[in-house]
Amino acid sequence: GQPPTPYEVIGEERLSALVHAFYHQVADHPELISIFPDDFTETIRKQEQFLTQYLGGPALYTNEHGHPMLRARHIPHEITPTRAKAWLSCMDIAMDEVGLEGELRDALFHRLSLTAQHMINTQGKAE
Ligand code: HEM
Repeated sequence: GQPPTPYEVIGEERLSALVHAFYHQVADHPELISIFPDDFTETIRKQEQFLTQYLGGPALYTNEHGHPMLRARHIPHEITPTRAKAWLSCMDIAMDEVGLEGELRDALFHRLSLTAQHMINTQGKAE
């Protein structure tokens, strides 16, 4: 049959654990906390839906919210290169915490790096 999707390999439970661990890091990150809402419940729910479909699982995000148009949905938030880096560092730690390893981790991290890069909409201060 078909090779399993990354979503199937990671599994719904581990994906949920990843997203929770990720927003724990975000809530603790000085560069990120100010642009996120105080209550992460809805953010977590949407990110689980989004990553499910990003990884080849059912289109949960699109079914409820329409086309992701991720860059457009990030325009209200100031995404600087520093914040993109911070976002990825939170993801890196979260991946460690849920034991995501090997090729799957590397491929996902690489893809997320490209997506994060694409979200940058403000140059901010030079680093
Ligand atoms: C929403 C920040 C990258 C997926 C948001 C929100 C913020 C944010 C502040 C709004 C949260 C809320 O109001 O609930 C950032 C920053 C990034 C980044 C600083 C750094 C580059 C990414 C990437 C992805 C992503 C790489 C996908 C892999 C989402 C999704 C939402 C979201 C799905 C919910 C959109 C909606 O309202 O339906 N992000 N984000 N973000 N972000 Fe990001």
